[in-house]
Amino acid sequence: MKFVLYSLVMVFSCLSALGQSTETARESQIDSLIALMTLEEKVAMCHAQSKFSSPGVPRLGIPEIWMSDGPHGVRAEINWDNWGYAGWTNDSITAFPALTALASTFNPELSAAYGVAVGEEARYRKKDILLGPGVNIYRTPLNGRNFEYMGEDPYLASQMVVPYIQGVQQNGVAACVKHYALNNQELWRGHINVHVSDRALHEIYLPAFKAAVVEGEAWSIMGAYNQFRGQHCCHNELLLNDILKTDWGFDGVVVTDWGGAHDTKQAAEYGLDIEMGTWTNGLTASKALAYDNYFLASPFLNQIKAGDLSEDLVDDKVRRILRLMYRTSMDATKPLGRVNNAAHHAVARQVATEGIVLLKNEGDFFPIDPNQKLKIAVIGENATRQMTLGGGSSELKAQFEISPLQGLRERYREAEIVHSMGYASGAPAYGRALPSPYDADSLKAAALAVAKDADVVLFFGGLNKNHYQDCEGGDRLQYGLPFGQDELLHELAAVNANLGLVLISGNAVAMPWLPKVKGVMQGWYLGSMAGYALADVISGDVNPSGKMPFSIPKELKDNAAHSFGEMSYPGDSIDQYYKEDILVGYRWHDTKKVTPQYAFGYGLSYTDFAVSAITTDRTKYSLTDEITVSYAVANTGKTAGAEVVQVYVGKPKSKVNRAKKELKGFDKITVEAGQSATGSLTIPVSDLAYYDEKSSDWKVESGSYVLYIGNASDQIQREIKVQIK
Ligand code: BGC
Repeated sequence: MKFVLYSLVMVFSCLSALGQSTETARESQIDSLIALMTLEEKVAMCHAQSKFSSPGVPRLGIPEIWMSDGPHGVRAEINWDNWGYAGWTNDSITAFPALTALASTFNPELSAAYGVAVGEEARYRKKDILLGPGVNIYRTPLNGRNFEYMGEDPYLASQMVVPYIQGVQQNGVAACVKHYALNNQELWRGHINVHVSDRALHEIYLPAFKAAVVEGEAWSIMGAYNQFRGQHCCHNELLLNDILKTDWGFDGVVVTDWGGAHDTKQAAEYGLDIEMGTWTNGLTASKALAYDNYFLASPFLNQIKAGDLSEDLVDDKVRRILRLMYRTSMDATKPLGRVNNAAHHAVARQVATEGIVLLKNEGDFFPIDPNQKLKIAVIGENATRQMTLGGGSSELKAQFEISPLQGLRERYREAEIVHSMGYASGAPAYGRALPSPYDADSLKAAALAVAKDADVVLFFGGLNKNHYQDCEGGDRLQYGLPFGQDELLHELAAVNANLGLVLISGNAVAMPWLPKVKGVMQGWYLGSMAGYALADVISGDVNPSGKMPFSIPKELKDNAAHSFGEMSYPGDSIDQYYKEDILVGYRWHDTKKVTPQYAFGYGLSYTDFAVSAITTDRTKYSLTDEITVSYAVANTGKTAGAEVVQVYVGKPKSKVNRAKKELKGFDKITVEAGQSATGSLTIPVSDLAYYDEKSSDWKVESGSYVLYIGNASDQIQREIKVQIK
């Protein structure tokens, strides 16, 4: 026996070391290993042993699995059995920009660089699974976790998530795409039962997960907390067994969200592989070292022993877990990883600068000249607040975080920069909104006094990572800005009209002050290099090229989910109906002619672009063809910059309900000042399909379609009709 074991281990290491492990060889090695394991050892692998690890098989040398949040950087070490930080001194990292910022770059190559960098940091920190990226669709601006996701459009999210995953996984670290599926709000996330049509499910909420699994070949996926059609998503037969594992052929590991399992039989039979984070019985209170009580621990073991559940179920789970190990911890060829290096900081800075979206720029308020002797009043708590702290599980221990104020101070050497908080909130705390310790009136008075005689007033406000803001575990309570910022902005505008605003948030906000401010930038949560990136764009060192990955409605009721009342959002605490169906985000604004404040795909530049010579290669296509769209982008201004050409497609006179148009292609092109560049992109005709509920399959209708080509969903330069036979 000893010899067999030794030889097996040798074979595994040689195979991986030589990089020759074919899939078949690996699968038979996995089977041989399973054959050596006791039932107890197999069951042990299917549930946690600590907050962020699951056990291996010490007797056979099978390692433990170590996981970490995700998705914007590798989280600090957490204690074995409680949520406190472990206090290590070697676990600080690079904080990358939030995924909304990444999505705004509309640059899949940058997403690959992001994935590689965060994957290298995870590898260096000895993590086998990085709990991210998140691709839940932006349905309502109140969702506390939108900042962790990639916006409202399934195509954009799909294009951006695939390279991220490939980048992470090339380091021998599994990406864990989350939260599958329909976790589109934080309120009642643990139990709300989502009702959504098959069409909206397949056309809106699943495509990014499908792309992550099928194209990105993600090695793991995290189930969502909520229920879908009466079953929790972490053991949902339709989502996991039918769609994920059968239709999409997913061969990796389904991990629960922490405490997302609720039933042993369902967990065993409906596709869950590893259970993490459950409290004693998944329902009530935490108990020290309760791992044996997990649904996939002793109860699972006992039901197999009693013959109520088949041992094949545990074998399938262990097979998947071992497969993940061969791809990660047991892959002897994996790279070593790196952390906090200049290359990672550069990636973080580039994603941040490319993600910043210039929304308004009256009288060329931006860029602000760094060579002039200006007095700049920097107002607002977000000019100095650390945004890598708070927000829930994506909180990071960044080795450093450059604040906007610091970034400006370093770039604007000639200027006199005066900072005043203007408003304040409390410290971030999970599940609680702490009050501000400061007197609001005094803060406001001080800010107005500073702003009064400044040449420029730059306000850094928005949301933060506190409870009820952009934070896990709760939704926002209001669409407007919190902490008295709306009022403060009106008063600032009254004392100094040369006022611009940088919104630090992961969500849309109401903008009642918009007519009174000259410039608005969407600044997101930008991580370690936040201040440098903001200074890059504010100073004009970098020309902004970010585009909105979601619509900003004028009022909350203009958002599709909210226009159907309480049962649509947030539900009645038990059930919720996605009544807007497929008309999410700009699909709603376009189709129902509800003008947003800022549309999906919108973003200004310091230069001007003209998209012209827009043509398709033909006007008639068959089902297996690809449509090639060609265009020229002229930079008619004085600064080099990048423009995102966006191609949307609509099907007038359809058999089924359709959005006016849907994004089907985009292309980010950099053009020198005064120059012009040509480009083209292709759209497979199969991408024009709708999900047919009767046949449970995708169908392309024949007939005429309209291609809308422009540089925002509401800025269409040309419409081209094509026929599909
Ligand atoms: C979150 C997950 C996270 C997990 C572990 C859960 O509460 O929903 O996104 O990965 O905790 O921290």
